[in-house]
Amino acid sequence: MNVAQLIAKKRDGAELAADEIAGLIAAYAADDLPDYQMAAWAMAVFIRGMTTAEIAALTEAMLHSGATFDGSPAGGPPNVDKHSSGGIGDKVSIPLAPALACCGVRVPMISGRGLGATGGTLDKLEAIPGFRIDYDYKAAQRLADQVGCTIVSASPELVPADRKLYALRDVTGTVPSIPLITASIMSKKLAEGLDALVLDVKCGSGAFMKTLDDARGLARSLVDTGKRMGVATVALITDMNQPLGRLAGNAVEIDESVACVEGGGPDDLRQLVVEQGAEGLFLAGVVSSIEEGRIRIAKSLDDGSAREKLAEMVRVQEGDLDAPRPRAAEQVVTAQRAGCVTAINTEALGYAVIELGGGRKQKGDPIDPSVGLEMLVRLGDQVEAGQPLVRLFAGQKGRDAAERLTAGAITLTDEPGDAPPLILERID
Ligand code: URA
Repeated sequence: MNVAQLIAKKRDGAELAADEIAGLIAAYAADDLPDYQMAAWAMAVFIRGMTTAEIAALTEAMLHSGATFDGSPAGGPPNVDKHSSGGIGDKVSIPLAPALACCGVRVPMISGRGLGATGGTLDKLEAIPGFRIDYDYKAAQRLADQVGCTIVSASPELVPADRKLYALRDVTGTVPSIPLITASIMSKKLAEGLDALVLDVKCGSGAFMKTLDDARGLARSLVDTGKRMGVATVALITDMNQPLGRLAGNAVEIDESVACVEGGGPDDLRQLVVEQGAEGLFLAGVVSSIEEGRIRIAKSLDDGSAREKLAEMVRVQEGDLDAPRPRAAEQVVTAQRAGCVTAINTEALGYAVIELGGGRKQKGDPIDPSVGLEMLVRLGDQVEAGQPLVRLFAGQKGRDAAERLTAGAITLTDEPGDAPPLILERID
């Protein structure tokens, strides 16, 4: 393999063959290819893009750079998972995994930490006293067998090529490339040995994809890749122009997730759990219609079974869902004027949580599980001057910066505005 030729081929916009892509990724994972050549290739991909066949070949090559979970055993429950492209207050995985497990599927979920302004499911789960996320991939499979669902971090044996390539992209301006994002996400999800996958592609001011066109492009690419690799896949494009639910942070998002599995919590959170769960059950062939899936998931939330399953998953992963969780002191940010809430800079709210210590500014920063925020208004609400808009849960750290970011994030105007629909499109 002549790597310089492959870089030049992509630079000039030609399609690479599957074996060329496989050779490149295998060499990089084996430390036989220097970062400077991989970075040049990634930039060529960023600029030129990739065909569906190339994206599938890249996903496959990354997937096979390490170990993979076993597929579902014959006669056993199908393996189902969901993945979100990331948003503020997006805690759906935490109620959804146990709800799905209550409906006869197995959920071997590998999840991530915060990225950019968005929170991470693993950081949120670690706000539960004792909860452990670092299991090797064989132990993670045993947890999923035992409970029906598990949420763990990616162990080093899984998709090592992505870990290396992602770190390289992070420092070479090549993260926001649809082919590279697709292969990164799908290789990790397909390593779980899935039968069905539901993707939540977030769109709006708190998402990586700010416009519907970009969100559609990513959703299409993810769905096409999943299907091409034999996994029943669907994507919902969902609104991220305001935080999902009322609470954003770590311990506070566990509180809201628990409310959801107890049949309560905010309507938007419940709606996404029910819709994504229904799609997953339908794709896996466990129900004969999406409506039947909705009924099954809603029942698991309302009859206590999802609550019991979440507590079981937490217990098996060495945590205690009933132990008190920390919550920092409260202060409110109020409206400077009367008006209608017509825009929310949701990303700025994510950065406010990071300023308080609820996320990382640098790799390895410690997380303060007790901080966060509660939205007291939604898009389309009419407010009076002096009315509380957001409640911050804050210690000393970053309080002024968080207050500034929060106050500046909410636009009040004289003209009324509408609340956007929560589910914008379904891509299958
Ligand atoms: N999330 C991932 O896992 N990979 C990307 O490339 C972007 C977001």
